[in-house]
Amino acid sequence: MLKQLETIYTNALNELDTITDSDTLTIWFRQHLGKKGEITLALRSTADLPKEERAAFGQRANVIKNDLTAQYEAREDLIRQQELARNLEEGAIDVTLPGRRIPTGGLHPATQTLREIYAIWADMGFQVFRSRDVEDDDTNFTLLNIPPHHPARDMWDTFHVATPGVILRTHTSPGQIRAMHAYGENGTKPVRVILPGMCYRYEQISARSEIQFNQVEGLAVGHNIRMTDLKGTLAEFARRLFGADKRVRFRGSYFPFTEPSIEVDVECILCEGQGCPVCKYTGWLEIAGAGMVHPVVLQNGGYDPTQWSGFAFGLGPERSTMLKHGIKDIRYFWGNDLRFLEQF
Ligand code: DAH
Repeated sequence: MLKQLETIYTNALNELDTITDSDTLTIWFRQHLGKKGEITLALRSTADLPKEERAAFGQRANVIKNDLTAQYEAREDLIRQQELARNLEEGAIDVTLPGRRIPTGGLHPATQTLREIYAIWADMGFQVFRSRDVEDDDTNFTLLNIPPHHPARDMWDTFHVATPGVILRTHTSPGQIRAMHAYGENGTKPVRVILPGMCYRYEQISARSEIQFNQVEGLAVGHNIRMTDLKGTLAEFARRLFGADKRVRFRGSYFPFTEPSIEVDVECILCEGQGCPVCKYTGWLEIAGAGMVHPVVLQNGGYDPTQWSGFAFGLGPERSTMLKHGIKDIRYFWGNDLRFLEQF
């Protein structure tokens, strides 16, 4: 019995010497000193020995148990220190390394231009009115003096929704009707708004035309608003957006909702009027359609056209963004290609 005990003791000590991690150490403890461990069982079996052997065996077993416990604790300390040292080494931080760059987003180039445009019009007393993207046929066309079957409807290729009479707006002009009703108080109050937003047209997508694009509509309704107000205001806008030295010109045109109607050109910002491929060698770039609000439209907005007048305009901000940055293809705008977007 005693010999067996000594063997257990020697083996246990030898094993303990090779243990270097706390998991194995726990297993070792369970095997030798735990409730069902070899030493514990040996101590418990003392009672089964012949009387004369009991005292010596019990004494020796206790000495062994105490020694193993002490050795175990020493080992545990050592392993804990080693593990701590290892953790410190593995988790070491080199504080001299450069930090990792946090990726930050940026504003879409179209948004940047829109914000510049808002700021300029805000300076001149125009507030932003957000009209709806999904329009009804009446507001998009009829109330703007474009009756059903009128050939002028061909100017806008329209996306129709399954519900009859519901369309995606083809331009921001229907917002004029909504703004007059929202702010005009039945034709008794003046209105000065810009209406920015997405427009949709069922068109062949190409480098020059997309099926969706932004417009910024403008509307001023008041007493004695005249063509000269429109010209002066748009000229000032163009100079603020494109540069104070730029010349602006107005050409007669046709839109059903304005009378008279004009188109607004600014001196080519690339060749400064000398003529280049961008301005198709004319020296001029078209930036807006505009005109004096048609009496029928004023009436549809709740105003008496004999007492009130107004001007309106429609700008294409993507066009000016393309000009400004030399973007050759409008499809980049909504392609969401980061290689394009990250340049702005
Ligand atoms: N709605 C026109 C278009 O999409 C642009 C336009 C022209 C707007 C003249 C106006 C305007 O307000 O007066 O082609």
